[in-house]
Amino acid sequence: MMFDCHTHILPGIDDGSRSVEKSISMLLSMADNGVSDVFLTPHFNMMMYKNIDEFLEKRQESFDLLKSAIADIPGEDGKKLSRMKLYCGAEVAFNCGMHKADGLKKLCIDNTNCLLLELPYMPWKESVFDEVRAITEEAELSVVLVHIERFRRVNKKFESYVELHSIAAAMQINAESLFSFWDKRFCVKLIKNNMVNLLGSDCHGMTSRPPNVHLGYEFIRENFGDDVYEEFISSPKKMLEQK
Ligand SMILES: [Fe+2]
Repeated sequence: MMFDCHTHILPGIDDGSRSVEKSISMLLSMADNGVSDVFLTPHFNMMMYKNIDEFLEKRQESFDLLKSAIADIPGEDGKKLSRMKLYCGAEVAFNCGMHKADGLKKLCIDNTNCLLLELPYMPWKESVFDEVRAITEEAELSVVLVHIERFRRVNKKFESYVELHSIAAAMQINAESLFSFWDKRFCVKLIKNNMVNLLGSDCHGMTSRPPNVHLGYEFIRENFGDDVYEEFISSPKKMLEQK
């Protein structure tokens, strides 16, 4: 079982896949590389939609389109794709006060209470930590902080990540960051400190930001051993059990 915990595969809903054909290519590439389970996490931003239900309707339309296209694929490819498990969720952009939003739980992964949250790309003030705490304690959701390594460029203090780790339920890193000159060293530090246990490709297409989560798992196994690898492999399944 191999999960991709962060993807933009759903067609026509955000800056990820623009067509069903592209989505199918992305999924086939994943299946060929051993990915069995995929979290579908299009961007959700409170500013872009009237409300959460409007986003959910759009996501459902996109999901139905993808599922019916998969059902029409003949032969071995069709079998490969119908075996893959797809789970709807969202990459939710941070907003102060968002813990009070109606229906926030509906954005969680596959009816769990796990919310994938994208923090702001600016130096974090105390209000950011307070909001993550309020989502956890008042909205009673498990916050998963996505591609946490990408914020290192604007938030350099390691203590900030230690604090976030103590508040949030989990942190996710992108596979490509493990091979990036800028981000690799920070990812390694996070893994060595047992602060991350979820991996995603954050794939947006086949060329730019491609589906490559399998390379990340390989890297983790080679550099950190079987125990850490097993932790990354099993954590998404545990997330799905949080209902
Ligand atoms: Fe993303």
